[in-house]
Amino acid sequence: MKRMDIALRISGVSVTAVLVALVTVFSSGQETTKKLPRLRGRCQVCHRTEAAQWAESRHAKAWVSETFAQSTNNRTQKDCLSCHAPEKILVTGWGKDPVLRADDREHGIDCVACHEDADGAHHGTLGTQTEDHPVVKNEKFGSVEMCGTCHAKFGTVDELKASQWASDPKACVTCHMPEEKRPIAISASGPTPVRSAHAHDFRGAEPKMFQEGIDVDLKVEGNILMVTLVSKKVGHNFPTGAPFVIALVDVKVQDGGQTVLTHQTLFADDRDRGGQDTRLKPHETRTIKVNLQGKKGEATVRILHKYLRELPDDKATVLWEGKIPVG
Ligand code: HEC
Ligand code: HEC
Ligand code: HEC
Ligand code: HEC
Ligand code: HEC
Repeated sequence: MKRMDIALRISGVSVTAVLVALVTVFSSGQETTKKLPRLRGRCQVCHRTEAAQWAESRHAKAWVSETFAQSTNNRTQKDCLSCHAPEKILVTGWGKDPVLRADDREHGIDCVACHEDADGAHHGTLGTQTEDHPVVKNEKFGSVEMCGTCHAKFGTVDELKASQWASDPKACVTCHMPEEKRPIAISASGPTPVRSAHAHDFRGAEPKMFQEGIDVDLKVEGNILMVTLVSKKVGHNFPTGAPFVIALVDVKVQDGGQTVLTHQTLFADDRDRGGQDTRLKPHETRTIKVNLQGKKGEATVRILHKYLRELPDDKATVLWEGKIPVG
């Protein structure tokens, strides 16, 4: 019995080895690379995980974004373009205004824009060695200063500096590029060793990230519906960024299929329009009180996020939704 067991296990191992070899052959061919965008520098050939994650990110959509096109007169408003399709920021310099590049603008903020220097070397914090391209070990890579090259203009870095995360020199990366243990490249001889890699999907204004950062609680007391937001793990205002990016608390009370009450509270920086900055600050707890005016039924509460204030509600991202009986 024992011998057979061993024999089976050995043959199991060799079957696995063959399978892995097949997968590698397929995935180094067109099977996998076809699904990934063809990037400047062909990074997607070897850094497939980074490329697949990045392709889902807002950085990848920074130029093709419909709301970006709408707000820039179809990408012709010159002072708006450079950060959304930049030349290498290691060349123009962190903290300096990026320069609009001539080619491949549809890839927005691509790998080369962040990683490549004037000599074609790729910067990172790991200090790996490879014959595939020169690498520069750069301890400051991923610093708040680097992200601030484009994100400081609309206040996000100042907001961070007023929060408890101010002392983390890589705070943006800590929250937005969480660590994952995995190989970072597939070279000719197969995957490289497992290392401390970082998620490249740059999740921001989407449900999972929002819910990690902000707690929402619903309560009814007499004739008042209370919606409480607690900013527990957001290193900046909610929402952050340009004044046209807004969020809403949207309440609808329904009774027997009929909407009997609606209410909205705006979270926005309206200082440019002579109004107030009503965004939720880091660590802030805020309770919005909605007078139910004696209505009965079920309240649906949603937190909506819009890249452009003018967008209709049905084009907003729903970051959170909850229901509670009222009356
Ligand atoms: C032909 C394969 C190949 C291509 C194409 C390639 N790389 Fe690499 N890269 C590697 C290998 C292999 C390593 C080392 C991996 C290891 O040792 O874990 C590496 C390492 C890196 C590192 C880690 C640096 C550090 O040590 O912190 C970065 C960043 C990087 N590459 C960025 C890029 C970017 C950006 C592109 C596209 C412009 C690119 N690479 C294209 C194979 C490639
Ligand atoms: C907005 C800037 C930015 C963009 C765009 C970007 N990266 Fe990165 N990348 C980083 C940062 C920051 C780190 C390092 C984080 C650290 O070490 O703290 C990193 C790390 C890496 C590493 C080292 C392993 C890891 O995952 O940490 C590789 C390889 C890499 N990037 C490849 C790519 C490729 C390929 C693309 C395009 C598909 C890309 N990056 C796009 C900022 C960027
Ligand atoms: C070259 C300019 C540039 C740099 C450098 C840059 N970003 Fe961005 N980032 C942008 C732009 C532009 C957008 C908005 C893209 C869009 O949606 O049109 C964005 C969007 C984001 C979002 C998504 C927000 C959302 O709406 O969900 C996150 C998160 C983010 N950046 C984090 C980072 C981090 C972390 C770094 C540093 C490692 C960084 N960025 C560096 C320009 C930049
Ligand atoms: C303590 C964690 C934390 C830190 C530090 C942090 N963020 Fe965020 N960030 C979040 C969470 C959670 C969200 C989702 C809620 C939201 O949309 O504000 C978010 C959302 C965003 C968004 C989408 C904004 C919106 O609401 O439209 C951008 C852009 C962004 N972050 C950029 C940055 C940059 C740049 C830095 C560094 C200067 C940074 N973040 C630091 C947690 C963090
Ligand atoms: C300094 C770099 C920079 C410049 C210049 C810039 N942006 Fe952006 N833009 C960003 C960053 C960073 C974000 C992501 C943070 C946020 O949500 O504001 C962003 C996000 C956006 C968004 C929301 C995401 C989307 O794709 O819908 C729109 C719309 C936008 N920008 C339009 C503009 C317009 C219009 C101008 C010119 C008035 C402009 N941008 C100039 C950096 C820049």
